[in-house]
Amino acid sequence: MNVFGVDIGGSGIKGAPVELDRGRLTEERHKVLTPHPATPEAVAGCVKEVVDHFGWSGPVGVTFPGVVTGGTTRTAANVDKGWVDRDAEGMLADLLGLPVTVLNDADAAGVAEMAFGAGRGRNGTVILLTLGTGIGSAVFTGGRLVPNTELGHLELGGHEAEKRASTKAKEDEDLGWHHWAHRVEKYLAHVEMLFSPELFILGGGVSRKAEKFLPHINGIRAAIEPAQLQNNAGIVGAAMAAAERGDAAPAARVA
Ligand code: BGC
Repeated sequence: MNVFGVDIGGSGIKGAPVELDRGRLTEERHKVLTPHPATPEAVAGCVKEVVDHFGWSGPVGVTFPGVVTGGTTRTAANVDKGWVDRDAEGMLADLLGLPVTVLNDADAAGVAEMAFGAGRGRNGTVILLTLGTGIGSAVFTGGRLVPNTELGHLELGGHEAEKRASTKAKEDEDLGWHHWAHRVEKYLAHVEMLFSPELFILGGGVSRKAEKFLPHINGIRAAIEPAQLQNNAGIVGAAMAAAERGDAAPAARVA
């Protein structure tokens, strides 16, 4: 079965049809630049453009970089505040004329990694952290997701963790890999203290450069692995969540 996945990110809105059995895109993904300001209406127009590019008609899963409960977007840390308390699912379903499922971006990436990537076969507590503009989190135990955990907003040394340990912080403060890895290490130690996971999966674009910073991270008991699906994890996880809603049977379940 194929379902369409869309990933709303700070720089691009990307999507493609996904083959659910294998967690792969069936065609090269299509990307449009994220509008600024990224108001709900402007972003919804881009989602439509991506879906229409493939002439898709069928269920669509969409990621969002904030808390999403019951299809309503609740927070907007790094996007336009117009998203707070918006019925994103209803708005997109009306615009596309298709069934739409919206979920948090890190949750989507986590669902995909658990089924097809670094989390495969792991039944204990697994935490995926996406290091990007912000820090997103997805917490699993027994393969089931606890949605909207928002661990990027934990306090770290008197600051919000994502303001210190995201890749945006690395760029803004022009930190070297070693310096930045030290901050990530402190953050992981804090999250480990709270949850004692067996595995951390580190996602976001930086997962492609794992060899530059993972060797500098020490003293964490849990295994640490880079995400394997990299840029496509959000698209694949969004499609899986939409399939779940439609009673298909993806490999990991969204709570
Ligand atoms: C948001 C999360 C999101 C993360 C990554 C954070 O600022 O609060 O919901 O998952 O950024 O986009």
